Amino acid sequence: MCAGKGTRLRPLTHTNAKQLVPVANKPILYYGLEAMRDAGITDIGIVVGDTENEIRDAVGTGDRWGIGVTYIKQDEPRGIAHAVHVSEKFIGGSPFVLYLGDNLLRDGIRGLVEEFNARKPNATILLAEVEDPRHLGVAEVKNGRIVGLEEKPAKPKSNLAVVGVYIFDRNILDAVKRVKPSKRGELEITDSIALLLKKGLAVNYHVVTGWWKDTGKKDDILDANRIVLENLEPSNRGEIRGNSELSGRLVIEEGAVIDSSTVRGPAVIGRNTRVEHSYVGPFTSIEENVIISHSEVENSIIMCGSRIENLNVRLEESLIGRDAVV
Ligand code: G1P
Repeated sequence: MCAGKGTRLRPLTHTNAKQLVPVANKPILYYGLEAMRDAGITDIGIVVGDTENEIRDAVGTGDRWGIGVTYIKQDEPRGIAHAVHVSEKFIGGSPFVLYLGDNLLRDGIRGLVEEFNARKPNATILLAEVEDPRHLGVAEVKNGRIVGLEEKPAKPKSNLAVVGVYIFDRNILDAVKRVKPSKRGELEITDSIALLLKKGLAVNYHVVTGWWKDTGKKDDILDANRIVLENLEPSNRGEIRGNSELSGRLVIEEGAVIDSSTVRGPAVIGRNTRVEHSYVGPFTSIEENVIISHSEVENSIIMCGSRIENLNVRLEESLIGRDAVV
């Protein structure tokens, strides 16, 4: 699913698809595509909306991952259930994974897919314990079974949030046609799954043990960035000049130049990026063709083509869009 408007990430998403915001210099969407490919899923439909061209440019035919991609247009973001509905022809009668393009899961979905294929329930959903699930789908579980599901409840019945990765058989295709718009005016997948429960169909669940991130908001993206950076394999293909000091886990890509600067990992410095007379602190991802000059940055994501120059305060906890000048 890549059709949402990304309203919680504005102003960045006025001009960029939220699924393409980079985490450790890789678009969030790529993590999901790789998770599906690693689970043996090679036939992938991407539901697109306003940002269709951008998504197409970033993913193409899917060749790069050994997958085949079909683009499915959703005219208006009328909800995830509606997006499933418009995908009916593509899905046909087969079971399928529904993967929200802004979700990141550490452990992938291979185990989940294998289990679904072995046990053949009507749906499998993933749950994750979160502190405050009021902005998410929430499940109520009793004796190992889901007994209720609610979308963005004011008074959640548990702290088990619904993760944006689901597996369904064809029964959901009928349910998504029957749901009514929710309070936020969308056709909710959560309500559609509740209809499956009501019909007495088998809805299994798993509680995520590795981390999970819904990257709908800036701080969630920065959290995800921190986690992924901490697990990067260090490598240095750039050029270190002057009196520079490097420490920690670092990925420095080809053509990058670090000149008379301090860089403390975990961090990634993209292709042809220049860091001069500057400080780059932990948990920073800098994409390609960026210039950081006489400045200090930390715990931030800086997208390609940007220039951060002559700052007299440290730039922290920020998400800097493409070609920005600070
Ligand atoms: C959607 C689902 C919600 C789920 C969340 C996970 O929310 O409706 O149930 O918990 O994704 O990312 P949305 O991002 O549309 O607000």
